[in-house]
Amino acid sequence: MDSFSLDATTRVAVIGAGSMGAGIAQLAAQAGHTVRLFDVHPGAAARALERIARDLDGAVQRGRMAAGERDAVRARLVAVERLEALEGCGLAVEAIVEKLEPKQALFRQLEEVLGEHAVLATNTSSISVTAVAQGLKRPQRLIGWHFFNPATRMKLVEIIRGVETDPALVPALHALSKAWGKTAVDAPNAPGFIVNRVARPYYAEGLRLLAERIAPVAAIDRLLREAGGFAMGPFELMDLIGVEVNLSVTESVFQATAFDARFAPSLIQQELARSGRFGRKSGQGFYRYGADVPAPRV
Ligand code: NAI
Repeated sequence: MDSFSLDATTRVAVIGAGSMGAGIAQLAAQAGHTVRLFDVHPGAAARALERIARDLDGAVQRGRMAAGERDAVRARLVAVERLEALEGCGLAVEAIVEKLEPKQALFRQLEEVLGEHAVLATNTSSISVTAVAQGLKRPQRLIGWHFFNPATRMKLVEIIRGVETDPALVPALHALSKAWGKTAVDAPNAPGFIVNRVARPYYAEGLRLLAERIAPVAAIDRLLREAGGFAMGPFELMDLIGVEVNLSVTESVFQATAFDARFAPSLIQQELARSGRFGRKSGQGFYRYGADVPAPRV
């Protein structure tokens, strides 16, 4: 067993500057870390920093953050255009596409760039942490650290040990989660872990009702919100998460459960993802966005 010290002096690399990567980078900078954000698409990390800056400005305007603190957080965030520029980071948090092979390839590169002392964390929603670590020289240094969307606001994180993960990494990550203002729970390395596994039928049954023309999108969402007490209905939530991200999670759980019919992907969701209707981030998913109130489109 190794000993791991992760604190505010640890420089953090975040890879993937989409919804989750940007949120995690902001969170780390707010907790005092120097953060380097990388995305494979040129300019994406810089655009993510602009979104973060707008969010921080909003916090200042609402009186939730002092202007000096905003400036300090912004100064700690750097967008980089080359993976090699992550050298010197002691913790890497991966938030790229929800597919096994790209994650494995990225971590193999990160091992080279960051050296033997770095801790590697994957924000995967559903993929086996053991599988992500497969082929690494130091699989014991990789762990699952699963945030929820939006990462800056949702309190919960799941911590997932793969077969090779060094057990000493777990308390170190719990301490860091606490320092970042999160409540961490240990989750088993099972398909979808805990939260995404329990949530699958929520989406699936909503999609089935839609396919069977039992009720339209907006009615299902409103009923679940108003009568069910859920913060969001299944379709609003898929639009927030990303229709294609949610589909990847379903596909991964379906595959990992030996194609258990309960987790079969929905044709409607597949068609939306194929057409680029990813939800809020693309301006259209189950709803259209841009106006104050999203209008149902299905
Ligand atoms: P996203 O699609 O918004 O962002 C992914 C980003 O990664 C994109 O900017 C893309 O250009 C970049 N990327 C793709 N391959 C890359 C590579 N090889 N190297 C560097 N950058 C790369 O996706 P999102 O929603 O941020 O999800 C990212 C990860 O976080 C996925 O594994 C997902 O399952 C997980 N996650 C997503 C949640 C959600 O609600 N969207 C919640 C919790 C976890």
